Amino acid sequence: MKNGVRKIIFWAKCRSDRSPKIRVLDIACGTGRTLKFIRATLPKACLYGIDLSPNYLKKANKLLSEELGELSQLLQGNAENLPFRENYFQGTTCVFTFHELPPMVRQKVL
Ligand SMILES: C[S@@+](CC[C@H](N)C(=O)[O-])C[C@H]1O[C@@H](n2cnc3c(N)ncnc32)[C@H](O)[C@@H]1O
Repeated sequence: MKNGVRKIIFWAKCRSDRSPKIRVLDIACGTGRTLKFIRATLPKACLYGIDLSPNYLKKANKLLSEELGELSQLLQGNAENLPFRENYFQGTTCVFTFHELPPMVRQKVL
């Protein structure tokens, strides 16, 4: 796992000790790998994943259904236009994705 993700998980874990229902979004969640790591660290958090690809989301659903705890909510959608209100999440992750985005799209997602 990359250091940035570790830092976010550590920070979110500190918060979750005080408030069990923190919300974390994994942007471009792909097959759910990162959500699986986050679930292992934050068993009480509400986890969300969004990705463009319905096929990856199917795989994510399968992988995450095998995990204990609350299911992650998976949505098909575009990271350029997230369907959530401002400040809805206490943490977000986005792993192995920015390098694949064209510069203009990358800026918008950021
Ligand atoms: C290299 S994969 C990384 C997946 C996952 N984050 C991981 O680390 O395993 C890149 C992902 O970005 C998704 N993606 C690309 N452009 C996107 C966009 N505009 N909005 C949402 N997802 C996007 C792809 O469908 C793919 O699942």
